[in-house]
Amino acid sequence: MSSVRGEFSSRFGFIMAAAGSAVGLGNIWGFPTQTASNGGAAFVFVYLVLAFCLAYPALMAELVVGRHGQANAVTSLRKIAPKQPKFAFIVGFGGIICAGLILSFYAIVAGWMLSATLTPIAEITSLDATAGWLSTQSLGRDLIFTAVFIMLTISIISKGVENGIEKWSKRLMPALLGILALLIAYVLTQDGASQGLQAYLVPDFSQILNPDLLVSALGQAFFSLSLGTSVMIIYGSYISKQENLVSLGAYVTLIDVLIAFVAGLLIIPAMYVAQAQGVEIFSDNGTLLSEDTLVFQVLPALFNSMGDIGLVVAFAFFALMSIAALTSSISMLEAPVSYTVEKFGMDRLQATWVIGGLIAVVSFTIVFNFSSLFSFVIALTTQFGQPLLGMLCCIFVGWMWHRHSLLEEIKSGCGDVENGVFWKIWPWYIKFICPLAIALVFFNSL
Ligand code: TRP
Repeated sequence: MSSVRGEFSSRFGFIMAAAGSAVGLGNIWGFPTQTASNGGAAFVFVYLVLAFCLAYPALMAELVVGRHGQANAVTSLRKIAPKQPKFAFIVGFGGIICAGLILSFYAIVAGWMLSATLTPIAEITSLDATAGWLSTQSLGRDLIFTAVFIMLTISIISKGVENGIEKWSKRLMPALLGILALLIAYVLTQDGASQGLQAYLVPDFSQILNPDLLVSALGQAFFSLSLGTSVMIIYGSYISKQENLVSLGAYVTLIDVLIAFVAGLLIIPAMYVAQAQGVEIFSDNGTLLSEDTLVFQVLPALFNSMGDIGLVVAFAFFALMSIAALTSSISMLEAPVSYTVEKFGMDRLQATWVIGGLIAVVSFTIVFNFSSLFSFVIALTTQFGQPLLGMLCCIFVGWMWHRHSLLEEIKSGCGDVENGVFWKIWPWYIKFICPLAIALVFFNSL
């Protein structure tokens, strides 16, 4: 069995790691793309409401389960309700499988980011053929970069919590925010940007109850906070009992939502700027032309408009995207690895390679059958798996956990919580409102 469990060494380290898990392609690739294809500002509005009102409470449920259990997802859930081992297994193990499947498509998109990082280098060094290969989708390119990305993920996870996950997240996350800010300052000076800002910030309220929009926003909020996949249970299990969970969870939510919002401030105006330069973004009937590759079209157009410096900026931007993807992918791999290590007593290094290898096989299968599998796996995991598992987790915490010990766990590390709103509302909220609201949004869309 594992002897000493890892733990985050500092509050900042945990926030960076959990925010690192939350902030990723979902914020910078997923959120702006979803915004653009779901009517702009109306989507942003619904997303913000759902993120704070549903995703944050659900995030707290996962963190509290993990910190209480101090173990992998299945074991942590079982500790709460020893009489419900099957239910605990479905939620915990279901989440682990979901995390693995998410990683298998995530690695492909992250591989695109890696090749987009190398493209400007090839251009600067006048390797035109290489640059062409790197920037054109092909089976060979996708297989190679997906594999490289999975190897990077494996190498961090095999080092454990403090020296792997925490150390890298602390370095990489602040750099990401800095470069986003610089890029926004630039894009807003360009022609067409104000039209983009308007589309992003002025909502058409007639759209906000549209079931498709609601379910996309819910799925996006859950994806962005890495919910429903037991990842946050695991991260919660590495938090010490002295920490204030309520504020930690709030910081993570705030950072995640903020970065998604800020990324939208870059990408949506960049779309309109690219359009003003003649890149085709929308089809004649107003739908987005190529959702998956949107950022790979609009951003290079923006970088090109900057002249030579654009190459440096392109490199910096895609490098940071790759990094953001990496701090997320490590959390996905940690979910199955921590389970395997603790359940089967396997060595961490070995477990990481075995599971990483399995995920690579699934990823390659998706690459080979891209048109039929890619969107399917995304929809299956993010629109079905995550909200449903997230809902089950709320039900678990709300209904299976003895109220007294749930409150005890929340109190640990934040003594004055009893006087706050969170204390009064949350236990009740997680019991009734969250599961119901998730179910409503979900079934409404079927
Ligand atoms: N939240 C990350 C993003 O926005 C993706 C992510 C990391 C994730 N870990 C996860 C999604 C676990 C679902 C489950 O890019």
